[in-house]
Amino acid sequence: MAVASCSQKDVWRMREPGKEWRLKHIAIMKAGDVQYITGLLTSYDSGSIPEYALTTSAIMSAKSEAIREALARDSSGIIAFEDSNPLGFLVTEKLAYDTEFFGVSCWNIAHLAASEATGMGEITREALIHEFLKKNESPFFVSCRTRSNDISGINSLENTGFRLIDVVVKYFFDLGTQELPRHSFDCTIRDYHESDLEKLKDIAGTFTETRFHYDPNFRLQAPQFWRQHIENASKGMADKILVAELDGKAVGFLTLKIESDLNRKIGLKLGRMVFAAIDPTVRGRGLYTSLIWAGLNYFAPRCNLVESAFAHANNVAVQRAWQRLGFKPAGTYVTFHLWRK
Ligand SMILES: CC(C)(COP(=O)(O)OP(=O)(O)OC[C@H]1O[C@@H](n2cnc3c(N)ncnc32)[C@H](O)[C@@H]1OP(=O)(O)O)[C@@H](O)C(=O)NCCC(=O)NCCS
Repeated sequence: MAVASCSQKDVWRMREPGKEWRLKHIAIMKAGDVQYITGLLTSYDSGSIPEYALTTSAIMSAKSEAIREALARDSSGIIAFEDSNPLGFLVTEKLAYDTEFFGVSCWNIAHLAASEATGMGEITREALIHEFLKKNESPFFVSCRTRSNDISGINSLENTGFRLIDVVVKYFFDLGTQELPRHSFDCTIRDYHESDLEKLKDIAGTFTETRFHYDPNFRLQAPQFWRQHIENASKGMADKILVAELDGKAVGFLTLKIESDLNRKIGLKLGRMVFAAIDPTVRGRGLYTSLIWAGLNYFAPRCNLVESAFAHANNVAVQRAWQRLGFKPAGTYVTFHLWRK
């Protein structure tokens, strides 16, 4: 293998006193280098691609394409290799929206993988993360999400200063094989009107089971983040907003999005239930379950597969609603945050 575009340099890492491991080469990764890392692509799952529903080759092409596109934009990539063999890679993206909203440079580790073949997976990831961290000028913030059973990846994040911030779950409904559930309800469900916005923003601001609330550095701005989220959805970020109404008043909403990117790349028509909230005064009356049911019916003629939002593992109400309607668990993930001030 020749990683022609790389600027190479040797890096040394001290893991434990007396134990030293030399990571031979660590270099900038470019979009054209994706061809060299296909052997590493099976080893990570950040939850952004519905792996449970895809063939291995579709997973590989979706991941390769996602990495290639990220690197062609302003994301930054680092690759580690030894004797021409790729050992691991890291792709980080600058989150432009979050950076502007929170007023601090926000990054996400979108792809992080390392070969476990040599028993050096953990330390390879650590070296890659260190390399990324030292390139950035403080203050900055980095997030990373991985499977809850990716113990080696989790240990690498812990060893480089990341802190656990949440545990989330995701569910899916397969429109190709599952029958739409029957459901009766006594509220009105309708399309969003512009005049709903202020009320929906107030409802969105009551969402507290979120990593932004759990992180003390974001907590003060978190309610405004979710208020802004529904406003952005109303201005075109969502494909559809469903509103639940009781006695003529808007009391809840659900935003829906069809992932045109995955359709373009691998022909998967994926519908995502993105964000929902119910007015605290009328919770526990089946409104959320009814919105999800209506969302499923919106996606039914348009998609093959429906994915829930990531929800906090302790957000029992949403999981009960999804399970009642036939959604199946797709995975559990852990999110980590790191701050450099
Ligand atoms: C989570 C939320 C949307 C649920 O809305 P809701 O209209 O009260 O939900 P439903 O009445 O449809 O209840 C759904 C299920 O959860 C159960 N449930 C409701 N509140 C519950 C609670 N606090 N604890 C445990 N179970 C609860 C219901 O009994 C029902 O289960 P069942 O069908 O087995 O009886 C609402 O609490 C909310 O807006 N929370 C803040 C925003 C949020 O968390 N959004 C989810 C983003 S992923």
